[in-house]
Amino acid sequence: MPKPAPQPTTKLARAVVLISGGGSNLQAFIDQIDAGELPLDISLVVSNNGDAFGLDRAKQAGIESCVVDHRNYSSRSDFDAALIERIDASQPDIVILAGFMRILTADFVNHYENRLVNIHPSLLPKYPGTNTHQRAIDAKDQWHGASIHFVVPEVDAGPIILQGRLPINSGDTSESLQQRIHKIEHKLYPLALKWFAQGRLSINLDKVLLDNETSLEQLQTFDL
Ligand code: GRF
Repeated sequence: MPKPAPQPTTKLARAVVLISGGGSNLQAFIDQIDAGELPLDISLVVSNNGDAFGLDRAKQAGIESCVVDHRNYSSRSDFDAALIERIDASQPDIVILAGFMRILTADFVNHYENRLVNIHPSLLPKYPGTNTHQRAIDAKDQWHGASIHFVVPEVDAGPIILQGRLPINSGDTSESLQQRIHKIEHKLYPLALKWFAQGRLSINLDKVLLDNETSLEQLQTFDL
């Protein structure tokens, strides 16, 4: 019987994903992994909220998950220390914030320097914080979008990997805009993670480079 031809080996990056809620971005990662498009091994999903639907998504995909509930800790630093302990037991190459609704201490962020990424539903530096969709509508902005970035101690800041934007329609509500932006998130976040997993991202003077080139087209426009 002839031996099968050797397959190229792609090293999978080990990932821990932190969630608080629905986990639609987590689902996008799982779908892309299953399709062979994303070389990630999600070894653990952590939620600070036991009711998060994303925990069901992890279970469905056969991914280990756990709850570290911030309400069980008397201080932010105690909570973050417990998170670190749980995450580090998994020895991840990358820690992915995907709808994780807790502010993290500088100690936590520095512990995962250059391997902690987040998605934020605005065109940063516009609208850090919450309620971004309504804020963009209220400001009569022409564009709204999402940003994927490396995390630094300042909240919703840090070197941007990718941004996606779409025009705000006159009839848009916060909900309709959120739904459309989610579609962008589900396309761009797996792509950014793929680049990370392939070792193609670097940071130089707060700017993210792809393949050491300065020409990465960070802002993509969508018509969704
Ligand atoms: C996303 O809109 C993301 O930008 C923000 O939280 C939301 C998470 O959505 N950080 P989901 O839980 O992935 O569905």
